[in-house]
Amino acid sequence: MKNKAMALAIGLTALSNIQVTAQAASVDAGRDAFETCRGCHSAPGYSNVYPTYYVPKIGGQVAAYTVAALTAYKESNRPHGTMMANTYDLSEQKIADIAAYLATNADGSKLANANGGDAKNGEQLAAACLACHNDDTKDGAANPRLAGQHANYMERAMQEYQSGARKNALMQSMLQGLSADEIKDIAAYFTSLKGLTATK
Ligand code: HEC
Ligand code: HEC
Repeated sequence: MKNKAMALAIGLTALSNIQVTAQAASVDAGRDAFETCRGCHSAPGYSNVYPTYYVPKIGGQVAAYTVAALTAYKESNRPHGTMMANTYDLSEQKIADIAAYLATNADGSKLANANGGDAKNGEQLAAACLACHNDDTKDGAANPRLAGQHANYMERAMQEYQSGARKNALMQSMLQGLSADEIKDIAAYFTSLKGLTATK
C-alpha cells in the first residue's frame, strides 16, 4: 500500500515535470517567432489604416496579458483581420515564447501619440481603473499595462469592449456608461505616463 502510494507520487512528480518542461517559455524562441511581427510592431508610430490608429506598443507588456490577447485574436474573439491572420497558426508554446520575449523587451521607442484629450480629467476618471491598471506587474496577473500606450489605440480598444466587438465581459462592464469624451480623456492620461515601448 505504502509502495503503491509512493509509486503514484513518483508518477505524478514525473508527469508534472514533463508539463513544466513543455510550458517553460523561451525568450530566444520568442524573439525568432517575432520576426514576422516586426514590420508593424517595431516601427515606432506605425499606423493601422481604416480606421487609422497607431499599432499598439507591446514592448514591456505583461506576459500573461499578451498570451490572453494573442489567444483572443486566434480564437476570433477580437475582430482584427491582420492580427487574426498572424495568430491563427501560432501554437500555445509559441504564444508563450513570444509573450516572454515581449515582457523583457522594453527598450524600444517610447514615443507615444497623444490625442488632445484632457489628461487631468482622465486621471480622475481613471481612479477606478488603477486597482488593476497600476503597472504592478506581479506574476500571473493578466491586467495589461496601459502606461505609455498610444492614445488612439486605447480609445479604439475601449470602444470595442463597450460595443462587445472585443469579447470581454469584465472590461465591458468597467467601461459601461463612459462617453466618447471621457474615454478620450482617460486615454490621454495613460498615454502621458512612462511605460510601454515599441519593440526594439
Ligand atoms: C500588419 C501589421 C501587424 C502585424 C504584421 C502584426 N501585428 Fe500585432 N497588431 C497590429 C495592430 C493594428 C493591432 C491592434 C489590433 C486591434 O485593434 O485589436 C495589433 C495588436 C497586437 C497585440 C495586442 C496588443 C494589446 O495591447 O492588446 C499583440 C500582443 C500583437 N499585436 C502581437 C503581434 C505578434 C506576436 C505578431 C506576429 C506573429 C503581430 N502582432 C503581427 C498590427 C500588426
Ligand atoms: C478588475 C480589473 C480591471 C479593472 C478595474 C479595469 N480593467 Fe481594463 N483590463 C483588465 C483586463 C484583465 C484586461 C484585458 C482584457 C482582455 O483580455 O481583452 C483589460 C483591458 C483593458 C484595455 C485594453 C488594453 C490593450 O492593450 O488593448 C484598456 C484600454 C483598459 N482595460 C482600460 C480600462 C479602464 C479605462 C478602466 C477603468 C474605467 C479599466 N480598464 C478597469 C482589467 C481591469
